[in-house]
Amino acid sequence: MKQIETRQELIKEYIEFFKSKHHKHIPSASLIPENDPTVLFTTAGMHPLVPFLLGQKHPLGNRLVDVQKCIRTQDIDEVGDPIHHTFFEMLGNWSLGDYFKEDAIKFTFEFHTKILGIPLEKYAVSVFEGDSDAPRDEESANVWRSLGIPKERIAFLPKKDNWWGPAGLTGPCGPDTEMFYWSDSSKAPKKFDPSNKGWVEIGNNVFMQYIKDEKGDYNLAKQKNVDFGGGVDRTLAILNGLEDNYLSSIFQPIIKEIEVLSKKKYKDSPEITRTMRIIADHIRASVFILGDVRAIKPSNVGQGYVLRRLIRRAIRYGRILGISNFTSHLAKSILPVYPDYQELNMGHRFITEQLDEEENRFNATLEKGLKKFNEVASDLKEIIPGKEAFLLFQSYGFPIEMTQELAEEKGLKVDLEEYNQEFEKHQDLSRTSSIGMFKSGLADDSEATRKLHTATHLLNEALRQILDREIKQKGSNITSERLRFDFNFSRKLTDEEIKKVEDWVNDKIKASLKVKREEIPLQDALSSGAQSEFGAKYPELVSVYTIEDKRDKRSWISKEICTGPHVNNTSELGHFRILKEESSAAGIRRIKAVVELERL
Ligand code: ALA
Repeated sequence: MKQIETRQELIKEYIEFFKSKHHKHIPSASLIPENDPTVLFTTAGMHPLVPFLLGQKHPLGNRLVDVQKCIRTQDIDEVGDPIHHTFFEMLGNWSLGDYFKEDAIKFTFEFHTKILGIPLEKYAVSVFEGDSDAPRDEESANVWRSLGIPKERIAFLPKKDNWWGPAGLTGPCGPDTEMFYWSDSSKAPKKFDPSNKGWVEIGNNVFMQYIKDEKGDYNLAKQKNVDFGGGVDRTLAILNGLEDNYLSSIFQPIIKEIEVLSKKKYKDSPEITRTMRIIADHIRASVFILGDVRAIKPSNVGQGYVLRRLIRRAIRYGRILGISNFTSHLAKSILPVYPDYQELNMGHRFITEQLDEEENRFNATLEKGLKKFNEVASDLKEIIPGKEAFLLFQSYGFPIEMTQELAEEKGLKVDLEEYNQEFEKHQDLSRTSSIGMFKSGLADDSEATRKLHTATHLLNEALRQILDREIKQKGSNITSERLRFDFNFSRKLTDEEIKKVEDWVNDKIKASLKVKREEIPLQDALSSGAQSEFGAKYPELVSVYTIEDKRDKRSWISKEICTGPHVNNTSELGHFRILKEESSAAGIRRIKAVVELERL
């Protein structure tokens, strides 16, 4: 196999190969989905591309390749084994209505066997066996056979194994074909048995030829796409003959540092190995969430809550190794592994400061909280009352998942229903915003979100006109109900300023201005004065939305680099109203606003 030791070398080979097959390289999007209110994190490379999978033309054409940062919290319980992670990088390539099964399989096979040099004796694949929704995928199986994969190494499996998507409840999906590598040191069995743990999945080609609708029916899609995904950590491990991802050059610096701090060895016992893996995984994920261009902080809602859980879980596992005050120190051994993410370099100080603060906060209550937990648990045989779990959350900062985990270790369960009732009684928080949203979902391009997208552009310009020309977008999140916009500004807005901003936007809505979309090179977009988001990475060719100025055709009201979607004319928006203006982080303000049919 090819001698590849670092993730950068692997990524280079991958991108170069797909470029040679006429794919255009796009940058990784943020870990926080911009336009998808149904999920907290980007869970797959296809996620930021949903509008293009649904038929919108991509400015760079119909063949794309990238490496996308992903977070999957649904795998958190499996973290600790050799191959699962909460954060990971996904190699991705796409055909947007261009090539389909045959070329996709041939490209993947060439990359795996010729470029990476994976030997055929250790390679196996699975394809969809067919059901009442879609036929058996003989076409893919035939392509694999034509490439020399013996039939006993091709498994036909049901939907639960060989179907991917939709990412949310509705949208593009289809049968997939997955590639496996025999990672065990024994000889690979002749027949492929996917339940044998020696076979590790290293890639997945999804053939998105269906759209699932709200009724649950699978309809043939107008545009047939290919969506390939493959994990960087796993691929690098197998290239180095490792059965354990944590032994690769990605994780070794942090594992070594944990060994030094704890004066224990990774291989000392299975429990120590698992504990070190969990700490390394959670610190890496935390570094990427904190270091994202959206600069999430630990909190009790949304992404901030997941971040808090990860940091606090790492701290608790640290106690098993006898270490404390270590999170920011360990973060420093992750950063040099990822020099290609500029946002991590730029966010270096923020990352370590936030880790220190969160660790100090949790240390202040952890000891007492554990004592309290043990008192509660020692009197009980089966169930920990929800009230007690809520107290542990409220007074000692124990995320409910941590209490559940501690309970499980003692063979107990937590009364989650009662916990939820307590939580709702005490907090003005929606549970869905913190816990129920880990599964992925589709970007919503309903009429309501289109309107709010355009309203966001007007708001951005209004702030720049009324408050400060230096204002830049620092984040945006749109649901079908409201827009949320973060921007750099050092103080609270006065009521008068808020009114002025609203009036400015409503004035532009009344003026019935045209919204125009064009695709132009990034440099031209920037030099024409188009607004871009601070710290965001863009491809070479971008789409720009311009809200035209009625009085002067050469001029415009707003111009922004954005993938949309937008309305065609501002008159479609209705009435714009700001609900709330508040601080979001130091030097960052946050506005929540709505558009209403009529003035209320
Ligand atoms: N979207 C596919 C996956 O995540 C490629 O496996």
